[in-house]
Amino acid sequence: MTLIEEIARSDMMRTLAGEVTDAPPCWIMRQAGRYLPEYRATRAQAGSFLDLCFNPELATEVTLQPLRRFDLQAAILFSDILVIPWALGQHLEFQEGEGPVLKPVTTGAEIADLKYDGLISRLEPVLEAVGRIRAGLPSNVPLIGFAGAPWTLATYAIAGRGTKDQAPAKTLMLQDPAAFDALIDLYENCCFDFLDAQIKAGANLVKLFDSWAGSLPPVLLDRACTQPLKRIVARLRTAHPDVPVIVFPRGIGPRYPAFIEEVRPTATAVDQNISMSWIREAAPSGSILQGNLDPVYLTAPKETLLTELRRVRDDYAGHPHVFNLGHGVTPDSQIENVATVIDFVRGKIS
Ligand code: CP3
Repeated sequence: MTLIEEIARSDMMRTLAGEVTDAPPCWIMRQAGRYLPEYRATRAQAGSFLDLCFNPELATEVTLQPLRRFDLQAAILFSDILVIPWALGQHLEFQEGEGPVLKPVTTGAEIADLKYDGLISRLEPVLEAVGRIRAGLPSNVPLIGFAGAPWTLATYAIAGRGTKDQAPAKTLMLQDPAAFDALIDLYENCCFDFLDAQIKAGANLVKLFDSWAGSLPPVLLDRACTQPLKRIVARLRTAHPDVPVIVFPRGIGPRYPAFIEEVRPTATAVDQNISMSWIREAAPSGSILQGNLDPVYLTAPKETLLTELRRVRDDYAGHPHVFNLGHGVTPDSQIENVATVIDFVRGKIS
């Protein structure tokens, strides 16, 4: 059997093909991160967070760390969504306790100055990590490549940092639509090119993170999130028909079903603010969903966690379900709780 055939038989890939496996596959958003002491040690060795992202050997090491501890059904490339703005020439730093800080781009001239030519060669260390990770993984564990979706990238690029309501990007969208649309178009091409390159380097499926989709009112959601993602998904499908595409339009609440109908991804990641029982009824039939335990339960007593795990599982039982959190694991999560999630989902404890 070839490696690709073996990967296709994994619970993760079978679920993404619409099968209901004996137990749902499980991976954890931000499974490599600060809640793990071995991550903190490698991070310290690397220097800055960006140094870690661009060091293929250490990025491979931190990607594999959670798989040594836990029986996860997928690995996710260790990198960050903001490597695209960085590779386009925008100054980027991760400040301790602050998160990402970029030199904002806000005018048509600044956007026109971004350097699309040579994008993929500047991201070469990330692609090298993809190849090394794939080589280091067992054949039943698929590797997830990813990119930030155009709208979420635009929120950081325009404000220069994370904001609570994404107001700077929304304001530019209305005040200078040509400049805003040019930035979204550019990111659309970057997302396709980068994911295409990750697939060629060894990623077995890809995920698009639109973490700030929920901040957009309906008409703007369609323009900045739904339509760009629809086009990226269609291009990926044409170029790589066998590679599943997961999209994560975080926080769009009752608009999830219409979004799924329009974008038609392989699977959709659902955040914790809707229930899987609601979306089971409301989403197009056959929808493959990923989610959606609230990460806060990873700080809870074990019994409280188990009660919530049973609810999330039972709410989508009998449907193709990739078990995950509704958002990333937080640094204060208890390692034993992460183990409990995986053991529960995989049927080792009830
Ligand atoms: O899931 C994984 O294990 C893969 C790695 C991964 C990271 N970031 C590592 C990271 C992935 C998939 C991301 C995606 C990402 N990055 C998103 C989309 C998902 C989401 O959480 O909504 C966003 C919005 C970012 C931008 C970003 N990166 C922010 C806002 C921050 C600071 C917040 C924080 O948690 O510190 C980061 C830093 C970051 N990215 C860390 C990690 C492990 C922590 C940095 C550190 O080690 O100091």
